[in-house]
Amino acid sequence: MIPFVDLKAQYQSIKPEIDAAIARVIDSAAFILGPEVESFESAFAQYVGARFCIGVNSGTAALQLALMACGLGATDEVILPTNTFFATAEAVSTAGARPVFVDSDPASSTIDVPKIEAAINSRTRAIVPVHLYGQPANLDPIFEIARRHELLVIEDAAQAHGAEYKGRRVGALGDAGCFSFYPGKNLGAYGEAGALVTNDEEVAHRARLLRDHGSDQKYKHEIIGYNFRLEAIQAAVLAVKLRHLDSWNDLRRAHAARYHELLKESELDLPQEESYARHVYHIYAVQSATRDKLQEQLKSAGVQTGIHYPIPIHLQPAYASLGYRVGDFPQTEKQSQRVLSLPMFAELTEGQIQTVAEAILSGE
Ligand SMILES: Cc1ncc(COP(=O)(O)O)c(C=O)c1O
Repeated sequence: MIPFVDLKAQYQSIKPEIDAAIARVIDSAAFILGPEVESFESAFAQYVGARFCIGVNSGTAALQLALMACGLGATDEVILPTNTFFATAEAVSTAGARPVFVDSDPASSTIDVPKIEAAINSRTRAIVPVHLYGQPANLDPIFEIARRHELLVIEDAAQAHGAEYKGRRVGALGDAGCFSFYPGKNLGAYGEAGALVTNDEEVAHRARLLRDHGSDQKYKHEIIGYNFRLEAIQAAVLAVKLRHLDSWNDLRRAHAARYHELLKESELDLPQEESYARHVYHIYAVQSATRDKLQEQLKSAGVQTGIHYPIPIHLQPAYASLGYRVGDFPQTEKQSQRVLSLPMFAELTEGQIQTVAEAILSGE
């Protein structure tokens, strides 16, 4: 069996470091926020090139806090791609604002930048580009539109730890950037975790308050907030894994190049790295006209796959009240029928990659 992600193999490769880090937290009995969290926050801020990092308990919480800390709320509209995980839109809604969807670009799968302006009106306050599958959205033209219309840009970098846009790591390039450390991510915790980064001191201060019941002094509450605190065990695990992230991303890129080599003559559409991007292949998503058959064929050969994502957000039952219809965003709708994610993780072996490629080619 070839798994979609192999977290056990990753643990085996770093077991002594992880075990020592977790034992240190248990010995300290300081389980929530505290020195382990602060130390990871400063390491991660430095890694992405941001002034501030606020560790929270999920990527979804990071997005909601970033939007709220930037002052978004009721009556505001936020533009985002419909081709993303549900949480991007959900965070806009739980921050009190209204999501407004835009289709995706066929080559990069990220937001279709030339379609953004048609979605802007007097209530629009922000754009949330998503660095989908580990490929950065085309940020410069997005910043240019944002400048012209006085909009904030909040990056959803949940799938793009270490990805680069024109040589700079994503996350710290907009007004705020949000990361998920869900276990299977390129940088994954051993449970729920996330973080937001920003260069704006005021946004960082508000996000810190909101994460911990609106309080920066015990039992004194400046505002009404949430319990979105990051646990020390997760921070300690993440600090260990951060040291390996670049080499793991290099391995993912090498595996993507190998898949490309083996599958370039196949009938599949393969992912392409944009000229401005350093893609970190959180997901290696191919497209096929006979996706469901291909998925079955791989399953029979013992190869696990995923679909990211089968239902575009504008067609989710939860957003029926927004009134979108089938046909509104044809590119994302088409992709949702064709897309298939192949196994991708740093520890993938040459033999496993060949088995996946053979299982695909044998059915064509
Ligand atoms: C693009 C995107 N945004 C947001 C999230 C939400 O992150 P989390 O699952 O940590 O809440 C995820 C991850 O699942 C994601 O892939």
